[in-house]
Amino acid sequence: MEDIDRITEMHQSYIQSWHPREYFERLVDVEEPLVLVAEQAGKIVGYSACRAELELAHLVSMGVCPLERTKGIGSGMTLAMVVLAKERGFSAIYGHVRGSNTAARQLYRKTGFHMEWVDEYEDGDEKWEFWQRLETNFNKMDKFLLSFV
Ligand SMILES: CC(C)(COP(=O)(O)OP(=O)(O)OC[C@H]1O[C@@H](n2cnc3c(N)ncnc32)[C@H](O)[C@@H]1OP(=O)(O)O)[C@@H](O)C(=O)NCCC(=O)NCCS
Repeated sequence: MEDIDRITEMHQSYIQSWHPREYFERLVDVEEPLVLVAEQAGKIVGYSACRAELELAHLVSMGVCPLERTKGIGSGMTLAMVVLAKERGFSAIYGHVRGSNTAARQLYRKTGFHMEWVDEYEDGDEKWEFWQRLETNFNKMDKFLLSFV
């Protein structure tokens, strides 16, 4: 519960259209939550949260506290989330990011996501989708396709 308080506090401090605490409670209150936190000296300095949507892991929120940014924490958590989603058997992981969010776009690109412009937000900012097929399934498909070559 303290973790959820900290995640909510971090999220609300830097996201324009922020979610209430109940949003994060619901993400954690499932059989196998897809929520990771990064800790330093016992304090949460970053979080990454996905929601399961059938075979897809939807990365709905992530953040690193301002003082700890550009140190690799965001990339590390994202890579860990990809591994977790893969282990749980999801076929892909995806999410949306604002065109103006240079840091997040760079992070997702760097951690192996494809980026595609899909829409606009209400305020006119570009809406980009980032997505990545998860290796286990990709490998199976790859082997299947290779068997025809
Ligand atoms: C986006 C965010 C999570 C990145 O976390 P982070 O810990 O700073 O990320 P990393 O240190 O792993 O950096 C990842 C890449 O992004 C780049 N980056 C980070 N901040 C940047 C910035 N302000 N401008 C440009 N690039 C930036 C880094 O340089 C790095 O790329 P590189 O290794 O090629 O240099 C963090 O800025 C944040 O919490 N932002 C507010 C919340 C948010 O936007 N969440 C995402 C919503 S989709």
